[in-house]
Amino acid sequence: MKVLDSKVGQGFAKVCADGFRQGWHERNGGNLSCRLTAEEAEALKENFETTAPWREIGTEVPELAGEYFMVTGSGKFMRNVELDFADSVGVIRVDETGTKYQIVWGLTNGGKPTSELPTHLMNLEVIRRRDPELRIVYHAHPANTVALTFVLPLDDEIFTREIWEMETECPVVFPQGIGVVEWMVPGGREIGVRTSEIMKTRNVAVWAHHGMFVCGHDFDETFGLMHTVEKSAEILVKVMSMTDRKRNTIRPDEFRALQGPFGIELDERYLYEKSSDKIGER
Ligand code: 13P
Ligand code: ZN
Repeated sequence: MKVLDSKVGQGFAKVCADGFRQGWHERNGGNLSCRLTAEEAEALKENFETTAPWREIGTEVPELAGEYFMVTGSGKFMRNVELDFADSVGVIRVDETGTKYQIVWGLTNGGKPTSELPTHLMNLEVIRRRDPELRIVYHAHPANTVALTFVLPLDDEIFTREIWEMETECPVVFPQGIGVVEWMVPGGREIGVRTSEIMKTRNVAVWAHHGMFVCGHDFDETFGLMHTVEKSAEILVKVMSMTDRKRNTIRPDEFRALQGPFGIELDERYLYEKSSDKIGER
């Protein structure tokens, strides 16, 4: 089966196209990765070549040794993924030491995997540890979420709580909350270490003044998570454009009341009693 004709290829391309249409992927902004299941890798194997050189990942992911990943290319525009899949996307294999990768398919014009490969693979490693079926990592530059990193404290608890309050659905969709990474140089191991620390327990990491990383079991869930956080961020931007205070909001006990009906457990650290109705204050 051709890579683009496969279910995983189709789902991958759809996220890139949908994200572009949301305005999250200016130029080459954003990237996507997916760990292939053994069945997916087997079904696509006839397309793979094993002659490309082994290159350094720039970090170590020993628990991903021997695994295959579909990844967007560095400098590739998400807009072009559905138009020229084999140029924009590659399948790589991680070596037995978890420190090198080989391109086995795609990135046809001398391309290489996203510059955020260390963060993607480190995230993919820690999320699999907590749930073997978590296998997709998505990075985008959604404007409202990024805008909030200039005005809200870069504090996991305050950031999560303010976003949660904007839409009842939020704590149901991401009950573990959001982790915030202060501004760091992108594209290396260090920011990957910081981000994967968050992904050990949570599905959302916001990079201050840059963008967001989310993870999921399938493409719809992963895209939907990015969309939900960004939609709430948009509402918060609108509210903050009108006022710095809320007259009405969802209160801690009301959040707690969601737990039974929705079968979720909310981390109490986000449900602190506020001393002020000013947005962004505890
Ligand atoms: P790449 O083109 O290398 O994927 O980089 C885009 C990006 O968003 C970096 O954070
Ligand atoms: Zn980015």
